Amino acid sequence: MKSSTMEFSIKNDNPLKLQSDCLIIGVYEDKKLSETAQSIDTASAGYLSLILKRGDFDGKSDTSLMLHNVPNTASERVLLVGLGKESDFSEKQYCKAARASIKALANSGASKAITFLAEVPVKQLSAKQKAALLVEASLDASYKFSANKKKKEESKKGLSVLNINVAADDVKEAKLGLADGLALASGVSFAKDLGNLPPNVCTPSYLAEQAQSLGKKHDFKVKVLERDELEKLGMGSFLAVSQGSEEPPKFIIMQHLKGKKDQKPVVLVGKGITFDTGGISLKSGSEMDEMKYDMCGAASVLGTFKTIAEMDLPLNVIGVIPTCENMPDGRATRPGDVLTSMSGLTIEVLNTDAEGRLILCDALTYVERFEPSAVIDIATLTGACVIALGHHASGLFSNNDDLAKELLHAGETSLDRAWHMPMWDDYQPLLDSNFADMANIGGRAAGSITAACFLSRFAKKYDWAHLDVAGTAWKSGKEKGGTGRPVPLLTAFLVNRANSSKK
Ligand code: BES
Ligand code: MN
Ligand code: ZN
Repeated sequence: MKSSTMEFSIKNDNPLKLQSDCLIIGVYEDKKLSETAQSIDTASAGYLSLILKRGDFDGKSDTSLMLHNVPNTASERVLLVGLGKESDFSEKQYCKAARASIKALANSGASKAITFLAEVPVKQLSAKQKAALLVEASLDASYKFSANKKKKEESKKGLSVLNINVAADDVKEAKLGLADGLALASGVSFAKDLGNLPPNVCTPSYLAEQAQSLGKKHDFKVKVLERDELEKLGMGSFLAVSQGSEEPPKFIIMQHLKGKKDQKPVVLVGKGITFDTGGISLKSGSEMDEMKYDMCGAASVLGTFKTIAEMDLPLNVIGVIPTCENMPDGRATRPGDVLTSMSGLTIEVLNTDAEGRLILCDALTYVERFEPSAVIDIATLTGACVIALGHHASGLFSNNDDLAKELLHAGETSLDRAWHMPMWDDYQPLLDSNFADMANIGGRAAGSITAACFLSRFAKKYDWAHLDVAGTAWKSGKEKGGTGRPVPLLTAFLVNRANSSKK
């Protein structure tokens, strides 16, 4: 199930003398050349300026132009990449340029290239951050899922080596950035793979096996609780969701304990519904296949663990994944059933399709034992969140404004944004039930908020945040596929926590 791989290294070479299949250089809108483009233009007696003057390339963001045999350069090709307006040039434009260059090279005969994009100044970014972003954006753009195609896609074409040129003074920092970028990309790619796998392969048992082998490889502790143990713990709500499925439920606990002994851990909880039919409240048929992605919260926890393990991040982090299928069956939970959760609170199930909150609430109670410094759950929880925020931002809910700010900031800097949603007490009565402590749905209005309100009732003992990634964890349509989000946000958050715990 390997995604495409590319080799990277940091260089400090002369663009004119260097022999490569392709040099990648940036050009701003309004025909303004980046520094390296300028030196190639001068050496080639204005060859680039001439092309710009003829109007064949305008430097707009998301565009590129491949040139061959540029005079007085030793490389076969020069790829011009649009940087957009110089005054607007930001992290986002920078990543767009990196992606555009990878896409252009995927269809060329070049297999080794050297990029000069990392030399372009980006507001507020260090050489280290620029190298990391470039690597991550490049690997994100070159990702392919090909596990299940009989004829493997032609692997001859496309880049196999990408060298990153930086100023001599920046080589050391850029090398650190390269390592960070590779670690993040490998977690993102792992999360994408898990999401993209078909639901007959990616079952709760499969996720548990993946966690076990990740733990073996990186030497962290993994425990998987089976149904009988979950019964003993009193997880009546989680078990009720799983009971219509032939696949046994699993409760995965991963422990990355690389911080100080007495440091309270950050706990990540991921929704791991490996297929959501809706249960007895069956979903309608259209696009139901996409409910294989209902374990993307779990995938993001596994992906983040892979990344922080590769980084050897000095922080205590615990990952918890309740995972099962939501299926209709003779034994399945019915609308009207009343469940007793691990917390003792009772829940009237009014819709079996609101199952994510039913598995998460028991996990939120379970993690109290870790005395966490913060708990963050990640879940493809509500269609309503997609209606509210579309596919750009994840919904963020929290019982602590400082924690919310930390997560928002992590999302901004990693280009994996979230948006803070309200969770005022005013919404809580929508969950009232005549027959139990609460109902599992709050009606159509404010659907993502009432879902968060439901979870908040089980997260009273610690600082908690909830990320609704229903709109961001995967793409539909022609580009259908997992995005690996919010692994970048979670990683940035944990890296920031590790840095501030050092102080
Ligand atoms: N996994 C879905 C949420 C979902 C739906 C995510 C579509 C992405 C796209 C979740 O389990 C669900 O079915 N939620 C219901 C809740 C409702 C019954 C209150 C929903 O959003 O319709
Ligand atoms: Mn559902
Ligand atoms: Zn679901």
